[in-house]
Amino acid sequence: MQVVKTKNQLRTILDAERSKGCSVGLVPTMGALHRGHISLVERCVQENDFSVCSVFVNPTQFNDKDDLIKYPRRPEKDAEVLQKAGCSLLFMPDEQEMYPEKDTRLFYFGPLEEVMEGVYRKGHFNGVAQIVSKLFEAVQPGKAYFGQKDFQQLLIVRKMVEQLNMKVQIVSCPIVREESGLAMSSRNELLTAEQKRKAALISKYLFESLTFVSKKRPAEIKEFVVNGVNAEPMLRLDYFEIVNGTTLQSIQEWTDSACVVGCIAVYCGSVRLIDNIVYKNAD
Ligand code: PAJ
Repeated sequence: MQVVKTKNQLRTILDAERSKGCSVGLVPTMGALHRGHISLVERCVQENDFSVCSVFVNPTQFNDKDDLIKYPRRPEKDAEVLQKAGCSLLFMPDEQEMYPEKDTRLFYFGPLEEVMEGVYRKGHFNGVAQIVSKLFEAVQPGKAYFGQKDFQQLLIVRKMVEQLNMKVQIVSCPIVREESGLAMSSRNELLTAEQKRKAALISKYLFESLTFVSKKRPAEIKEFVVNGVNAEPMLRLDYFEIVNGTTLQSIQEWTDSACVVGCIAVYCGSVRLIDNIVYKNAD
């Protein structure tokens, strides 16, 4: 596996690969890689001749400075697991490389950004769009891989690709969970053992709620999950919304949409966790 830090080095290598007719896939990440990330990399390796993984903790998507400072970083370990997963190239730029000058671009994703993470993390998706568009320009991948764990991000990235008329195909990959059910996240590392046990309740309520879908209305499911999380002193709910999986707008009845997803954000101590569950799927 090659490791490069500049866009120029990246271009030289990718131009050579493409001139041989190789397809290029990209997995953008912020590092501290876990099995969730690796599942994306493995899919990318399977579907492309040349697989790039980027590791860059993007400052413009953090609305909370403390969160940025605390964000786990372990480049050597990341390189090791990527190599094992069959990744062809690790792109690890520094901030100067990605933002030689301030990025003043403002994106607007309409109703998709006016709910959930868009409300609770002001400016977050603008930062995500800034870095993902720069990565797409630098790598020019045929396919790029994103996790359903960040469900709203996935739809925002798809929208951005459409707005900028980019050629990349966005591939969505299922959520990978710990044995306890807790959705894997780099931020899980910041939890104590006790907090980790409590955090597992988030997915427990989501999965339990899935079993009543045929008997209860969305508002009742919402109440069940909200009450469950609120009853736990170590957890603090930001939101739980049951939404149309295409527009992200809240639904009242199961028949309102062919695809319905429950999206949740919860603080466990000072660590913010997100998760979601598909109640009804179009495919
Ligand atoms: P990061 O949180 O590192 O996640 C990188 C990719 O891994 C995202 O597409 C995310 O959805 C996916 N992922 C994370 N945990 C997962 C899990 N448990 N199961 C499946 N996939 C999972 O998301 C970002 O970084 C950034 O916003 C980024 C897109 C890299 C832009 O900076």
